[in-house]
Amino acid sequence: MKKNCVLVSGGAGYIGSHTAVELITAGFDVVIADNLSNSDMSGVEGVRRITGVDVPFVNVDCCDREAFAEVFRRYDFDSVIHFAAYKAVGESVADPMKYYRNNLTSFMNVIDLMREYGRSNIVFSSSATVYGEADELPVTEQTPRKPATSAYGNTKQMCEDILRDSVAAYSSLKGIALRYFNPVGAHPSALIGELPRGVPQNLVPYITQTAAGIRECLSIFGDDYPTEDGSCLRDYIDIVDLAKAHVAAISRMVEQKNKERYEVFNVGTGRAVSVFELVRTFERVNDLKLNYKVAPRRAGDVVAVWADTTLANEELGWQAERPLDETMRSAWAWEKYVRKL
Ligand code: UFG
Repeated sequence: MKKNCVLVSGGAGYIGSHTAVELITAGFDVVIADNLSNSDMSGVEGVRRITGVDVPFVNVDCCDREAFAEVFRRYDFDSVIHFAAYKAVGESVADPMKYYRNNLTSFMNVIDLMREYGRSNIVFSSSATVYGEADELPVTEQTPRKPATSAYGNTKQMCEDILRDSVAAYSSLKGIALRYFNPVGAHPSALIGELPRGVPQNLVPYITQTAAGIRECLSIFGDDYPTEDGSCLRDYIDIVDLAKAHVAAISRMVEQKNKERYEVFNVGTGRAVSVFELVRTFERVNDLKLNYKVAPRRAGDVVAVWADTTLANEELGWQAERPLDETMRSAWAWEKYVRKL
């Protein structure tokens, strides 16, 4: 198998497209597989424009095992980064079976097919959501996971467990789960970025759409939390930095530098930022005023979560680099590009 070739499932989406770019920049060949259920070809076109490489794209649903197997027969990759999954927390509570069926089936297909076709390395996109309301902050990889409060969160925990058990049982496999904190921002070229369908559920796209006049007013969900300014604390990780963590994870396995066959890393900045602070940063670096109001707390939100990144820093040789100012500038540049402002 080609050691330097990576299948990126969900590669047309927000995190997948940025990761494809960083892999190619680092010298990897990339194949993108995506069913475009929550993305479109603009992500793939953006990757091609930024890199100048005509990246192969396959329109396939990873849940369709036979169709997905064809990708394994056709392309000679030794590693897979599996992004393809549903990710809306609220929707997963309203329709859990949609999430269990899709997120678990596609991941189990990946593992089965990797075994069947002799592929070695897998990176799974997990989430800080597995920590829930943590008892200790910042969270390390050893911080106990809390019972999931959404089907979405549960699929992340279950897929981590599926990966851990599979790697333990099948000696041909190695795996890394990356626990993302809050990915934000866009590529500096502004050719790829986050493109939510409908009303954004996440903070930064809501901010940029409000600035663009698409949304009237940002609601800040709660100013009475036990934090300094009363709003929630998160660890906002720049999307390009996050993408680079995947390159480090794949390289670690390809170069056989992993200490265990299954490993877990937090991918964050190590810095807690409040909702008010993020809004103020956005206003300052882009020189604009945002229409916002304080609204009631959103059900299910944890008060605070941010990463201890020591393990990723030391073992992956990776750390977040892009300053938040630049990230928030890039988020606005992308929104302006998409809306032709
Ligand atoms: N928020 C607002 N107004 C909005 C949207 C969000 O005030 O319109 C606040 C939230 O209450 C929260 C913060 O902004 O305090 C961040 O909210 P996001 O929805 O952007 O992100 P979450 O931290 O809720 O969730 C994200 C991902 C999940 C992942 C989780 C892990 O969306 O997939 O981080 O920590 F599981």
